[in-house]
Amino acid sequence: MKILLLGSGGREHALGRALVADPSVTELHAAPGNPGLAAIATLHSTDPASPVAVVDLAQLLHVDLVVIGPEAPLVAGVADALRDVGIDTFGPGKEAAVLEGSKAFAKEVMQAAGVPTADARVCMTRGEIEAALDEFGAPYVVKNDGLAAGKGVVVTDDRVEAIAHAESCGRVVIEDFLDGPEASLFAICDGERALPLLPAQDYKRVGDNDEGPNTGGMGAYCPLPWADEGLAQQVMDEVINPTLAEMCRRGTPFVGLLYAGLALTSKGLRIVEFNVRFGDPETQAVLALLKTPLAGVLHAAARGELDTVGELEWRDGAALVVVEAAEGYPGLPQPGGAINLPEDEPDAYVLHAGTRVDDGQLVAAGGRVLGIVGRGADVDAARANAYGLLDRVDYADGFHRTDIGIPH
Ligand code: GLY
Repeated sequence: MKILLLGSGGREHALGRALVADPSVTELHAAPGNPGLAAIATLHSTDPASPVAVVDLAQLLHVDLVVIGPEAPLVAGVADALRDVGIDTFGPGKEAAVLEGSKAFAKEVMQAAGVPTADARVCMTRGEIEAALDEFGAPYVVKNDGLAAGKGVVVTDDRVEAIAHAESCGRVVIEDFLDGPEASLFAICDGERALPLLPAQDYKRVGDNDEGPNTGGMGAYCPLPWADEGLAQQVMDEVINPTLAEMCRRGTPFVGLLYAGLALTSKGLRIVEFNVRFGDPETQAVLALLKTPLAGVLHAAARGELDTVGELEWRDGAALVVVEAAEGYPGLPQPGGAINLPEDEPDAYVLHAGTRVDDGQLVAAGGRVLGIVGRGADVDAARANAYGLLDRVDYADGFHRTDIGIPH
C-alpha cells in the first residue's frame, strides 16, 4: 500500500513510524514532513492545507490512502477534495471537522447526542462575557470559538485575564469549570463504527507542577493506571457512538480520528472538547504501544470497513513522551539552536517535531522541537527510559518539563 501522510509535527513522525512498521506499506510519502520523517518517507514540499495541491500530489503518486495529521487541512476541506476524486482518506470532511473548528457547534452536537459536557454560554459582547463569568464563577474557563492549534483556552482565577482573553477571541465560549483529572480517549472512526485507542493523559501547562501558560502539550503517557478499567468502553458507549450516530443523522458522517477530551469529575464523566485528529503529544505515547499494524486499520476506516478489523492489540506496560521545546515557547520560540541526537534504544527513541537541517546540522525550527518516547513495564519505567535518553540529547536552547508521568 502507498500512503501519503500530511503534516510535519511529532504526531506525524509517530504516525509515520507506525505506518512503515506495517508490512502492507510499500511506500510512505509525507507533505511537508520533517527531518525525522525524511529517514522513512519521501518528502514533498506541497502545502498540506491546499486541497488542489494535495489532490494533484496524491494522483501523481497513485497513493492508496491519504492520512491527514493536523486540523488545518481538515477544516480547509482537503479530505472532501480527495474523496471527490475517489482517493481513500483518513480524516473527516470539512463539515464534520467543525466539531473541532467551532466549540459552539461541538456543544450543539453533544447536546443533541446526549453526551455529558460542561454547561456553557456562547458570547460575543463584553456584557455577555461578564454575565457568563459571573454565572459560573472562578476558576473561569474561556475558549476561543475558532481553531487555535490547542492554544485558545485560558483557565484562570483572574477575572481581568479572563475578560482580556475573551475579548481577544471575538466569538468565545465560557464554560462551567470541571473538577477532576483530565484524560484523552481517541477513537478511529469509519463513519458508523469506531475502535478505541488506549486512554492517555497529556500535560498542557508549560512548567512543572502545571505552572505557566497552556501549550499544545508538553508530554503524555498511557495507559492510565489510576483510571477505571471500563473507561474506554464507557466513553465509547456514552460519547463516541452517540456522536457518530448524530453526525450520520446530520448527513456528515465522521471518518477519521475522534479525540474526546474528558474530565473525570466528582459528578461523573464529562467531555471538555472534541478534536478531529490525533492528539499531539498523546499519539506519540499511544502508538508506542500499538501492536496491530496501523495502516490496515486506517485504510479500513477510510473505506467504511472497520467491521473487518478486530479489536486493536497492545503491548503490555506503559509509554511516555517528553516534549523538548525551544526556549520562549509557547510565546516566541528561539529558532535555530543546534541539536545533536543520541542513538535510539529498544525502549526509548526520539521523534522530530519542529526541526530542520541547515547546512548538514539539525536545528530547531518550531516551538515543540522533539518528543522523547520511553516504554517500560509501567509508567515509572517508561519515564526512566524517556528521561534517560533525553539526558543525552544535546540541545542547549531547549527546555522540558521534569514531571511527565507523575500524577498531578
Ligand atoms: N494534546 C492536545 C492536542 O492535541 O490538542
